[in-house]
Amino acid sequence: MKKLTIGVLFGGCSTEHEVSLSSSAAVLNHLNLNREKYDIVMIGITRDGQWYRYEGEVDRIQEDSWSLHPSCTPVLLSPNRAMKGLIELVGTEYRFTPLDAVFPVLHGKNGEDGTMQGLLELSGIPFVGCDTLSSAICMDKAIAKTLVAAAGIGVPPFITVTAGDPVFETVAAAEKLGFPLYVKPAKSGSSIGITKVYNKQELMAGIEAAHLHDSKVVIERHVDGFELGCAVLGNTPYLVMGEMDEIELAGEFFDHEEKYSLSTASIHLPARIDPNKAKEATEMALRIYRALGCSGLARVDLFLTKDGTLLFNEVNTIPGFTAKSRYPSMMREAGMNFPELLDRLVAAAVQEVRA
Ligand SMILES: Nc1ncnc2c1ncn2[C@@H]1O[C@H](COP(=O)(O)OP(=O)(O)O)[C@@H](O)[C@H]1O
Ligand SMILES: [Mg+2]
Repeated sequence: MKKLTIGVLFGGCSTEHEVSLSSSAAVLNHLNLNREKYDIVMIGITRDGQWYRYEGEVDRIQEDSWSLHPSCTPVLLSPNRAMKGLIELVGTEYRFTPLDAVFPVLHGKNGEDGTMQGLLELSGIPFVGCDTLSSAICMDKAIAKTLVAAAGIGVPPFITVTAGDPVFETVAAAEKLGFPLYVKPAKSGSSIGITKVYNKQELMAGIEAAHLHDSKVVIERHVDGFELGCAVLGNTPYLVMGEMDEIELAGEFFDHEEKYSLSTASIHLPARIDPNKAKEATEMALRIYRALGCSGLARVDLFLTKDGTLLFNEVNTIPGFTAKSRYPSMMREAGMNFPELLDRLVAAAVQEVRA
């Protein structure tokens, strides 16, 4: 097979910049083990959106000191399909590096939300993961829930609030759902800007906090139960699933701190559910993946209530990707190690036909 040049995008103009640095370091370390298959081009994006080609050590990405490295040269990705690759600005000259595929290891805004995918689609360069529309849909919790509900799948009762909506009506509608409630920026990740609220006062503060991140806010009823994660890989109809995992919470909810420290929460892999329920959850996750037009990969998160009802929570189209992260762990548990997972993702990217 021809050696492929893969552009790996890391960092990003997003509140999840650091998470991306950790994910990218793991992806790069594993791709670098496969030098006979891949030439890697590292492309870093700073918090304020500057793009650089980076040729230093992967460790410096993890440590967040990469952008000070002398190898950094300004670059841009060409949307011009006559130049499928990276344009490096060297003084007043430019250098062109063709790319066979791009792996955007970016989380959240400007990376996972369809904006980057739009640029990549324009460029005509195959890329890992969901397309523009699917990424944008999955990023917006209100739109994703609406579409999943329309597909006949259960979601927690919720309302959507847009900045400028009358407060009195919002509070009345939210109270009707019943406390406790979760208040979330529609487009968030890593639990940033999310609060669990128990009364009207906390609700108002929660809405304000969520509005700092997004003009659209989702308020939904607390689901008493477990969280299940389903790792889906591939392009429809050739989908495979990892082992399902389960989050056991000791504290209030899986907040930002807990996600990365796991100090009180624990992850059970495989999930401790009976095989029939696991089968039902698998089928539901695959239906959601297809309903939202996902391709390449996604982690579909569900709730399982105490009475055995499965409900949709959200889809992460670029889930955490460190060797310890949930998605790669779920794949490993199903027999697919990290290097093989990366091979499959690159293959799915190259095979996917995007019009
Ligand atoms: N309706 C809900 N019922 C129970 N827990 C919830 C609910 N919504 C969110 N949570 C908790 O908050 C966490 C983060 O919410 P989520 O919607 O998954 O946002 P993020 O995109 O930040 O991961 C979840 O993992 C879960 O622990
Ligand atoms: Mg989540």
